[in-house]
Amino acid sequence: MKLVRKAVFPVAGLGTRFLPATKAMPKEMLPVVDRPLIQHVVDEAREAGIEHFIFVTGRNKGVIEDHFDRQFELEMTLLERRKHEALEFLRQDLPEPGTASFTRQQEPLGLGHAVWCARELIGHEPFALLLPDVLVQHERGCLAQMIDAARDAGERANIVAVEEMALERIDQYGVVGVGPPKGKMFAVTGMVEKPPRERAPSNLILTGRYILQPEILTLLETQDSGAGGEIQLTDAMIALSRKQPFYGLKFEGRSFDCGSKIGFLAANVSYALARKDIAPGFRAEIRKILDDVNGA
Ligand code: G1P
Repeated sequence: MKLVRKAVFPVAGLGTRFLPATKAMPKEMLPVVDRPLIQHVVDEAREAGIEHFIFVTGRNKGVIEDHFDRQFELEMTLLERRKHEALEFLRQDLPEPGTASFTRQQEPLGLGHAVWCARELIGHEPFALLLPDVLVQHERGCLAQMIDAARDAGERANIVAVEEMALERIDQYGVVGVGPPKGKMFAVTGMVEKPPRERAPSNLILTGRYILQPEILTLLETQDSGAGGEIQLTDAMIALSRKQPFYGLKFEGRSFDCGSKIGFLAANVSYALARKDIAPGFRAEIRKILDDVNGA
């Protein structure tokens, strides 16, 4: 049996940092080159062998559900215009019928609460959690790397993806403590959500990719609110780490925090430069812009 079959995508956030772009459109639909952020993250989950995609949405997020459905009018038009390649691309992106589920987080009570809202869809099995604000660019996706590494960790292990972060920005993230190595991973000795720099146990932050055991859901049921007054996933993970092993994986690749404007713009540049069809022309444009700006 597969180690992880289901993945959860929390997509209920308001996206206030991207207003007015996100006034009428979910932030998860902002494009990185020509694919919405959420599609990039679903691509990563698919590559890792995920079979069931669970979206925790909120009000005004209906477009995400439409994005993962067929669009007959569009398909007919593409067919009439003999745009077979575009049609084929659209079809490749579609989840198999019945493998995408949507549930709603009715109030913005935090990431921990969003995950708990998916409990009936997750059931009693390990699951992956991918935060769509974060993109990881590498030839082998971050979740696939985690699943590869998980084979050494034994059953009932929880795995988090981590990366180094400058200490000035550490208070914006969950931070882990580093214990002994375990294969490509290390034992996580502690976790703190958004600590002040002096209280950070290391410079390694939680990147937004997790493999979690279902017992986290029982803990989330009674989890009090933590940092920022929100029900924090990190706090429930701390409780779970007293009962089950937790490992950290320093993944390969570069991450982009697309919840910030600079991260989002940098992701667009980097993903465009990785595309054979776009890179040459785009590189020339960037050069021109930089020359103009530097010359000014
Ligand atoms: C969330 C998590 C945090 C993690 C971060 C990664 O925070 O709570 O532990 O480091 O995502 O982007 P948020 O960005 O929702 O404040």
